Amino acid sequence: MKITFYGHNTLLIEINDKKIIVDPFITGNPLAKDKINISNITVDYILLTHAHQDHILDAEAIAKNSNATIVSNFEIATHYQNKGFNVHPMNHGGTWNFDFGKVKYVNAIHTSSFPDGSYGGQPGGFIIESEHKSIYIAGDTALTMDMKLIPMYTKLDLAVLPIGDNFTMGIDDAIIASDFVACNKILGVHYDTFGYIEIDHKEAKKKFLDKGKDLILLEIEDSIEL
Ligand code: NI
Ligand code: MN
Repeated sequence: MKITFYGHNTLLIEINDKKIIVDPFITGNPLAKDKINISNITVDYILLTHAHQDHILDAEAIAKNSNATIVSNFEIATHYQNKGFNVHPMNHGGTWNFDFGKVKYVNAIHTSSFPDGSYGGQPGGFIIESEHKSIYIAGDTALTMDMKLIPMYTKLDLAVLPIGDNFTMGIDDAIIASDFVACNKILGVHYDTFGYIEIDHKEAKKKFLDKGKDLILLEIEDSIEL
């Protein structure tokens, strides 16, 4: 499993010959828009954690480009189905075996309106299991006791956690979250994109390291392999 960071909460996940993009927000991200040309992105699936603009902005353009299937909660999937896109609707607690692996849509504590204010269902995160690897993508969320359920489902190899604070967990809560999900390898996301969520990278890494945890902060377009 190869995971490439495209800024904010946007990840390109490559599993065998399948490509999955999570929460595509590139053309609106001042840190990513000059580095990545979304017309060069072709994927099989687009996973959306919730309907906020900074998670869905480029979903339609990439879906059109690729004829990709949009996977999200029922309300978000229906929104895109009504616009003619291929979708796979899920809801909290549900699991589906896709051709790239097993996906479970899990709880997040956040909100989920579309940019025009219409209802985007309840926000969530994803657990993806494939190739004997298991990752948790929290999406935008507060620290929640529901995270303690995740080790009952799977032994994670990586937890993708928001760390930017203000709109989501910050660093201290993300450290607790990594205990709850029982994973000491954390990919930090949802930081630095806007003024509200700028973080001190060195301090963040040190705080995790002091608890025996590895916080990975990737440069945009850099990858990790699991
Ligand atoms: Ni959000
Ligand atoms: Mn967000």
